[in-house]
Amino acid sequence: MHFPLDPHGGQLINCMVEESKRSELLEKAKGLPIITLSEREMSDLDMMACGALSPLDGFMNQADYLSVLEKMRLSNGLPWPLPITLSTSKEKAEPLKVGSEISLQTHEGEVLAILTLEEKYNYDKNSEAKQVYRTEDTAHPGVAALFAQGEVYLAGKVQVLNRVAYVDFLETRHDPAQLRKIFADKGWKTIVGFQTRNPIHRAHEYLQKCALEMVDGLLVHPLVGATKSDDIPADVRMKCYNVLLEKYFPEDRTFLSVFPAAMRYAGPREAIFHALVRKNYGCTHFIVGRDHAGVGNYYGTFDAQKIFDEFEIEEIGIIPLKFEHAFYCKRTKGMASNKTSPSSPEERIFLSGTKVREMLSNGEVPPEEFTRPEVAQILIEAMKKA
Ligand code: ADX
Repeated sequence: MHFPLDPHGGQLINCMVEESKRSELLEKAKGLPIITLSEREMSDLDMMACGALSPLDGFMNQADYLSVLEKMRLSNGLPWPLPITLSTSKEKAEPLKVGSEISLQTHEGEVLAILTLEEKYNYDKNSEAKQVYRTEDTAHPGVAALFAQGEVYLAGKVQVLNRVAYVDFLETRHDPAQLRKIFADKGWKTIVGFQTRNPIHRAHEYLQKCALEMVDGLLVHPLVGATKSDDIPADVRMKCYNVLLEKYFPEDRTFLSVFPAAMRYAGPREAIFHALVRKNYGCTHFIVGRDHAGVGNYYGTFDAQKIFDEFEIEEIGIIPLKFEHAFYCKRTKGMASNKTSPSSPEERIFLSGTKVREMLSNGEVPPEEFTRPEVAQILIEAMKKA
């Protein structure tokens, strides 16, 4: 592979309209039928605007959608694991004419984009659930969101007029082109991306440090789009990342930026998605540990690693760094994994998410071998306020 890596499909897509056409199109949008976007659709649109979802330049048509479900590829053969779709109700879809334009708006009525309707199609929610999430169980948050959405998909290219007006983490929001430039300016040729939707505990830290031994730089890229209600809110997590990076990570080799995507909890397929999108953001390597993007017991512990074997590494185009289950090992007195530690389960410190939540809500600081005390303190404070 040659570094820096090309974006997926060869180039960064830019769905923003040219400045010279913007006011005219904003005027035109006033007279168009309106579709209001969900939080997830909004973050997908915003990631299309800046090329994070390259090569996508719109919401998927039926040929791409079915090909993604069946083959994890776009209809042109390029790997792509998740449907990126725009749903609406039958009633709203009915009067919309193929070939016409639609204004895509926020709940507050702000115009974000104009979609040229290429196609509207019905889809089978059960089959999407089975193929994407490997379950039809509506207790799965991704499946629940799918069953709650409209029955018709609207497809077509988007012309983005306004980026989503995020008000949080503004200093750590970077588009792919910006991150690529930052990495180049730092002289980093190889960059490992770390996806997370949790506070960073010692096991997460260990994976990142192991990876950092092999590459030039680390992109800590926490997901801050929609997550399920019992996940720790992004603002609390950001406080944790900031104290952790300040004290425990090398400043000149670590970069923190937020990832605006919504979480789908699609486990293996989402791991491929996370990797491809991080390639667009300029990463050359991507960490995939245990049960990546998983929830409950829907996926095998290492399914999100095995799925990479279904592709040629050249077509994925970013190197997955696969990590075994990591923990603190009392015998070797350090962080380790099944790959490196001879210890028995009793000699390992590993706490389940439920156990950690229970300790924190009782104001109890989990052992330092599990989490850095500064991180625990922030989480305890946040739980007191909740
Ligand atoms: S995720 O949904 O974003 O994947 P999380 O933030 O918990 O969840 O995980 C971030 C990354 O760390 C994922 O690649 C995950 O597989 C990995 N990971 C989390 N905990 C461990 C662990 N104890 N051992 C190995 N990998 C882990």
